[in-house]
Amino acid sequence: MSSSTLKVVLSLIISTFTLVTITRAGDPDILTDFISPITGPVDANYFTFSGFRVLVQPPSPNPPPFKAIKASMAEFPSLNGQSVSYAALQFQPNSINPPHTHPRSAELLFVVQGSLQVGFVDTASKLFTQNLSVGDMFIFPKGLVHFQHNADQKVPALAISAFGSANAGTISLPGTLFNTSIDDTVLALAFKTDVTTIQNLKKGFTS
Ligand SMILES: *[C@@H]1O[C@H](CO)[C@@H](O)[C@H](O)[C@H]1NC(C)=O
Ligand SMILES: *[C@@H]1O[C@H](CO)[C@@H](O)[C@H](O)[C@H]1NC(C)=O
Repeated sequence: MSSSTLKVVLSLIISTFTLVTITRAGDPDILTDFISPITGPVDANYFTFSGFRVLVQPPSPNPPPFKAIKASMAEFPSLNGQSVSYAALQFQPNSINPPHTHPRSAELLFVVQGSLQVGFVDTASKLFTQNLSVGDMFIFPKGLVHFQHNADQKVPALAISAFGSANAGTISLPGTLFNTSIDDTVLALAFKTDVTTIQNLKKGFTS
């Protein structure tokens, strides 16, 4: 093969790969209207999810500071293959959803009650923050580290987030780093601190 032919072949391979990468930006396409469970026919109930009814019911007496109710493929199996999902995010006053990422989707957050301070950090370490009121939306780009904070001392907040994947996935930074068995020395070097400090951070997850 001459070197010019090789160049053409290589550039073809590269452009094909780029095209495939672009068209696979969401969940994989399916070749049927929907994916039904292997056993038996389905009816409309299969396409219905009532797990968010709790949002319009009286609040529980001792709610956790932050709670995410998911409507993703795991909770709502008919989302499989449809590239969409929701999460309802409930914040008590003065609470956070810690820094995390969704490896498979952007997140479109809509504030329906209270207010939220939100932010994300891009791959150049630039921080984008905003104070959101009821009715506001904010987009967290796919894969980027982001957080939400209900800074109000009295009013709870509720937000609904939409995802472009049936299984966006969540990687919590505190949990991934300090609630797994990554070696203390590795973490101490990474955070430019000592092993005792790392062990203290890890202790927060055991109590
Ligand atoms: C959000 O509100 C806080 C508290 O009032 C303020 O300190 C901060 O600068 C505001 N952030 C933005 C992005 O407006
Ligand atoms: C830490 O990890 C364990 C095991 O995965 C999990 O059960 C627990 O909820 C985690 N703790 C916190 C505070 O996230």
